[in-house]
Amino acid sequence: MRTIAVMTSGGDAPGMNPAIRAVVRAATAQGIEVYGIRQAFSGLLAGDFERMTNRDVSGIIGRGGTILQTARNAEFRTLPGQKRGLRRLNEHGIEGLVVIGGDGSLRGAQSLHQLGFPVVGVPGSIDNDIFGTDMSIGVDTALNTIIDALDKLRDTASSHERCFLIEVMGRNCGYLATIAGILGGAEFVMIPERSFTLEEVSDALENAYMRGKNHAIGVIAEGATPKINEVAAFLEGHETGFEVRMTVLGHVVRGGFPSAFDRLLATRLGVHAVECLLGGETGVMVGLQGRDVGTVSLADATDKNKNVSAEYIQMADMLAR
Ligand code: F6P
Repeated sequence: MRTIAVMTSGGDAPGMNPAIRAVVRAATAQGIEVYGIRQAFSGLLAGDFERMTNRDVSGIIGRGGTILQTARNAEFRTLPGQKRGLRRLNEHGIEGLVVIGGDGSLRGAQSLHQLGFPVVGVPGSIDNDIFGTDMSIGVDTALNTIIDALDKLRDTASSHERCFLIEVMGRNCGYLATIAGILGGAEFVMIPERSFTLEEVSDALENAYMRGKNHAIGVIAEGATPKINEVAAFLEGHETGFEVRMTVLGHVVRGGFPSAFDRLLATRLGVHAVECLLGGETGVMVGLQGRDVGTVSLADATDKNKNVSAEYIQMADMLAR
């Protein structure tokens, strides 16, 4: 293998830049040429390839977002789109590809693998919903951002004896909400993995007030039901003791400089992805398994679910008292 390419795809995650840097430098150290593909599978279809040298990745280890930019592409979900992508790779003389991204992006990688192209996936998503890795790139930084916000909101909540409802990203997975709830001392956490009634939330708040709490924090994952607006409206109509305010953190959580943990994880996974490509271990995703870096098939990474562990959910409930 003499020439490989790298792309970042799906929702950006802090740590994608250190991962690109690791791929470029690990490959050039072996005498391999590297191309960056701009804007993920959209750029692949458009033939937007750019040669990357070690100098092109100087100074990006601490930068959020992704210098290669990213996109979500509907055409690449179709077989004709995938075949066109394969043709572009061949036209540019690319012999292997590293895809850094979340579940949809890894499905794109898997489709190229099924067409016979050597691909390695790297899990990059703040959601931490990818099977085969204990942590995805970006999760730690996102959690730090959420906890920083929770700490600040608690200051104003206790000053006014208020309940703050805080919505965090996490689509179908309550990992961010649950862990942030534990680490930010939330009174309750609402996640897609289990449903709540509005009465249960109201009772939890009233109990917290009766126990003498002068603030309350509820962390709500964006995919949880009922939605934050409904919860806020219901609580406002009920005497829990707390006034209610809500904050949607949204895309704030996807930005910012990558934490030390994410820089190290991204670096280890980027280097290992290149080792896998060059060693002929393709059709796999590299991941953090315990303290080690390992691989799982792209088929498993994309087919199997990863849910928040029951242990964390119980811990969040128990410590909220
Ligand atoms: O998958 C990462 C993620 O940030 C989810 O948590 C969120 O639901 C989604 O992306 C938002 O996507 P977009 O940036 O396209 O609005």
